[in-house]
Amino acid sequence: MSMNRLEEVRQRHQRAEAGGGADRMARQHSEGKLSARERIDLLLDEGSFEELDKLVRHRCRNFGMDEQVVDGDGFVTGHGLIHGRQVFVFAQDFTVFGGSLSEANAQKIVKVMDLALKTGAPIIGLNDSGGARIQEGVVSLAGYADIFLRNTLASGVVPQTSAIMGPCAGGAVYSPALTDFVFMVDRTSHMFVTGPDVIKTVTHEDVTKENLGGAMTHNSMSGVAQFLAHDDQDCLQSIRELMRFLPQNNLDGVPRTATQDPADRTDRELDGLIPEESNKPYDIKDVITRVVDDSCFFEVAEHFARNIVIGFARMAGETIGIVANQPAHLAGCLDINS
Ligand code: HXC
Repeated sequence: MSMNRLEEVRQRHQRAEAGGGADRMARQHSEGKLSARERIDLLLDEGSFEELDKLVRHRCRNFGMDEQVVDGDGFVTGHGLIHGRQVFVFAQDFTVFGGSLSEANAQKIVKVMDLALKTGAPIIGLNDSGGARIQEGVVSLAGYADIFLRNTLASGVVPQTSAIMGPCAGGAVYSPALTDFVFMVDRTSHMFVTGPDVIKTVTHEDVTKENLGGAMTHNSMSGVAQFLAHDDQDCLQSIRELMRFLPQNNLDGVPRTATQDPADRTDRELDGLIPEESNKPYDIKDVITRVVDDSCFFEVAEHFARNIVIGFARMAGETIGIVANQPAHLAGCLDINS
């Protein structure tokens, strides 16, 4: 390759890393959000990320798009390690056309999903996207069809985890809603089929972004999200924690973790935790944390249907799932949400 060609490739790598430019990146940071690349760095074991398709470009020539071409087309995709185990990831960069999905960058997601299925490894999507790229029309929608199909094919085969890390609309939330675990970041993330302005036009109803699709709305009312994070760092750290409990795929065993907590440990407190009167409430989580290894209970859907408690823990170092009635809430009675 001539020196000019090498220089061109080097510059294209730099442009891919710069995303939508310094101003948009500054806005992203000022809103308390990390960039797509910063998020991947925090999610994966240090230095383990291998990027794919870094120089992919969109093919849209309408609406002046031929003059706005960003290498990588706003998605960062590839694979890396979490606690030494392989995962496939994609992260949408809101600074490039609002992280919207194009024909070209949809194929980047499709590639990592196919590789995850072929190799039997989890898929993690970090979503920060305004949905289908308006300028591309139906070819962008077709990209979502390819992704939704793979969401259904991967379901029950490899774990699929989504983080909603910005204002996500349209297809950018339909796909995450099909996945196994959904994390949201409080205040900086939203999940809408469509935003408050369209709701106002169509139904004449005034609704805030937070009430319509905020992190607490989806964690406590719709149940679409199961984890509420304080900020991006907290969200990515929690995903790493979740991964400790999950098998790589449906043929893999659950991971084991060394523990100093003896399997035959006795705990006298347990004798008195459950009241003798059956009409007195108690907190089932006090029982769970006293029984499992190292009092470590990773609760799923903490804010939804609090009359039932679900989550992961370990006994004798081995992952277990827990489903427990919660007498401290609605007397632990089952309802449709639980
Ligand atoms: C192209 C988009 C975009 C999109 C945002 N941008 N969404 N570009 N396609 N879908 C661009 C904006 O033009 C802007 O560009 C930059 O991203 C940041 O957007 P802002 O509006 O300034 O940000 P914010 O105020 O935070 O609002 C974010 C937002 C809003 C709530 C996501 O942008 C929005 O409502 N976008 C449209 C959402 C939408 O209707 N999507 C289509 C969904 S339909 P500049 O150049 O100014 O930085 C769909 C169907 C799927 O997905 C069906 C599958 C079968």
